This record gives sequence, structure tokens and C-alpha cells, in this order.
Amino acid sequence: MTPSPLRIAVLASGGGSNLQALIDHLTTLGPECGIEIALVVSDREGAGALARARSHGIPALWVPRTAVEGALANALREARVDLIVLAGYLRLIPNDVLDEWPGRVINIHPSLLPAFGGAGMYGSRVHEAVLARGARVTGATVHFVNAHFDEGPIIAQATVPVHVGDTVDTLAARVLEIEHRLYPPTIVAVARGELRLGDDGCVIGAPSRPSLD
Ligand code: GRF
Repeated sequence: MTPSPLRIAVLASGGGSNLQALIDHLTTLGPECGIEIALVVSDREGAGALARARSHGIPALWVPRTAVEGALANALREARVDLIVLAGYLRLIPNDVLDEWPGRVINIHPSLLPAFGGAGMYGSRVHEAVLARGARVTGATVHFVNAHFDEGPIIAQATVPVHVGDTVDTLAARVLEIEHRLYPPTIVAVARGELRLGDDGCVIGAPSRPSLD
């Protein structure tokens, strides 16, 4: 008997280009990859990510910030999700969700954590800080999510150079491009359990770490 597909929920507050990269990656892999996006959730009613989901026939749900306690866990449970993927979701994940999906919530951040992360460090603020500090490299980090912004164990990272003359916009574009290459294969590896959180809080599965080649 064919096993049921692994079900992913994507949580996004913004345009959803990382959601699109995941949709494209899963489309390339085809149904035999055994992974599907079961639900997209946003805290913003007008988020581009919700429109993108609907245009691909993926259930899309607005859960307002004020209703997130309880409602988010209920929606994820009803959708029977195995893995929760944050892609530009700007809210902390409530404890009831972290407790019900231990080691099954991941995020991507547009810097090399633990540098340039934490509360208030999102979007252009990250790249402004990188430029202001004079960093010569930056990149993207995929990590497990805990109750603090950008602090969970690191699963995968990819670097990009910071060029002389870079602006926030040129740097943001370079980092976003590497995010689109790093996140989808990492999500697939975590969904399949090839990369997972050990009981000691360390990430298991480095040998099967996805390659960017
Ligand atoms: C990305 O830079 C991601 O690293 C951060 O939020 C941004 C989301 O962009 N967490 P998009 O909505 O996927 O285009």
C-alpha cells in the first residue's frame, strides 16, 4: 500500500516567495516524493502568500494575531500536518503548537544566525545591520523553532558575499535567492526525518544534508 503523503503547513506573513520555491520544488520532485502542502496560514488577511496558495489550489487560512492562541493549533490539527514551516511568519509560535509538534517546526532567517537575529530583526532591518556592521559574508539559516525568535538549533546554512557598493536591496535579493535554493531541499529532508532534532537538542542527520549543487 502506498503510504499517505507527509503533510506540511506553511506559515507566512508576506509575499510568500519561499512558499513559491517550495511549491516549485515539490512540483519538480513529483507526487512520488510523498510530500504535500496541506495548508497555508497567515496572520495577515491580505498576505500574498494566501493568494499564492489559493492560486495553486492549496487551502489558505487567515488566523488573525489576536486569535492565534488555540486557533492555530486547531487548524494545524484539523489539517493533520506533520511539519510546520515558517516562511516569513512574523509572530512567535504559541507554546501549544510547539508542545504538540516537538521538533517539527522550522524557520528560515535571512542571516547567518546567531548573528543579526532576534526580536525586531526581520526584512530589510537584517540587511541594514549587516551592511552597517561591515560584515563581508551573510546568508540564510534554517533552524528549529523554539519559544524565542531565531534561537533554535541550526539545521542548515548557506552563505553569500557582501560586495562593496551593495545596498539593502541588492543584498536582500542575493540572500533571498540563496534562501530559495536552501529551504526547499532542507524542508524535504526534515519532513522525511533525514534531518531531525535529537533528544539532546542537537540536529541529527548531517550526512544527508542537502547539497546546493
Ligand atoms: C525571507 O527573507 C525569510 O528569510 C524571512 O522572511 C522573508 C520571507 O520572504 N523569514 P517571502 O515572503 O518568502 O518572500
